[in-house]
Amino acid sequence: MSEIVLDIQSLTKTVHKQKNIVEDVSFQVKKGEILGLLGPNGAGKTTTIRMIVGLIKKTKGTVLINGHDMNQDSHVCKEQIGAIVENPSFYDYMSGWKNLQQHARMASNPVSNERIEEIVRLVQLEHAIDEKVKKYSLGMKQRLGVAQALLHQPSLLILDEPTNGLDPKGIRELRDYLRELTKAGISTLVSSHLLSEMQLMCDRVVIMEKGRLIDETVIGDLNEADESAAHVVAVQCGIGQQTLAKELIETIPGVELLELEGDRTLLLQMQEDKIPFMNKLFVDAEVDVFAIEKKKTSLEEKFLSLTARENAEDTQEVQ
Ligand SMILES: Nc1ncnc2c1ncn2[C@@H]1O[C@H](COP(=O)(O)OP(=O)(O)O)[C@@H](O)[C@H]1O
Ligand SMILES: [Mg+2]
Repeated sequence: MSEIVLDIQSLTKTVHKQKNIVEDVSFQVKKGEILGLLGPNGAGKTTTIRMIVGLIKKTKGTVLINGHDMNQDSHVCKEQIGAIVENPSFYDYMSGWKNLQQHARMASNPVSNERIEEIVRLVQLEHAIDEKVKKYSLGMKQRLGVAQALLHQPSLLILDEPTNGLDPKGIRELRDYLRELTKAGISTLVSSHLLSEMQLMCDRVVIMEKGRLIDETVIGDLNEADESAAHVVAVQCGIGQQTLAKELIETIPGVELLELEGDRTLLLQMQEDKIPFMNKLFVDAEVDVFAIEKKKTSLEEKFLSLTARENAEDTQEVQ
């Protein structure tokens, strides 16, 4: 059984006594995992994170860090979290190293210079750590912020939209060192409104929209050659055959019907090694197959279709 580092249950934030800006959100971060909290702007990601780290009060729900309840053991819990929620502040005229030392002095437990060195290596700032922070690029400042958040050896790192303002190189570096951190046993919760980033950065994502969790997806190996990765596959059959095709699909384990598109196409989520079997089933049942096409990765497809569906519901409500 995998260890659970962060366990949030039914987290809810109500504002103005009636509006839920976060509603009944539950998810877990497992040990050594990078979990993405994905959602468009205004979805409630920051609010969720602020409740987790205790920056704002939650209206309802529980937050457990390594099994400790944030309400009862907030001190123990906070020691195990390192977070950057707002932009971290630094003394610009001091070096990165001096900033970290300064921060270390404020920690409740002593932080050795060896520990600072170790963290500097982890976030790959060795070459610039003696430079003044005012000379740092945004990416370097952010790495220094992560280093700061990690000084007290938390087991969970929480980053709210860490790629904002970073250039592609900075984003790639962030990805690299987050991966390094998992090797050092640190689990990460990271939020973003950009699906493509989450796909590359995370092991798993939970998708949030209008304050609620709408989906949870494991990111398969993005290597196309990986047969175990789930793909969205579009099958176009003959006119009047969609229902029969749907019935056949339902008999194949591991193949999920996502949507009927138009009157001839079925959108499926499946592993590609099941395509030949599915095709044979169609042929045997005399379903004419006009096309079988692998679409975008399943996560991309899901995110787009889920958010599109929610928007469509909104439009209907207005009418
Ligand atoms: N203190 C607050 N009072 C009222 N509404 C708020 C408050 N904080 C955030 N919101 C609203 O809640 C929604 C979610 O905000 P936020 O958590 O910042 O989303 P995200 O980080 O996903 O962009 C937004 O519509 C925002 O305007
Ligand atoms: Mg936000």
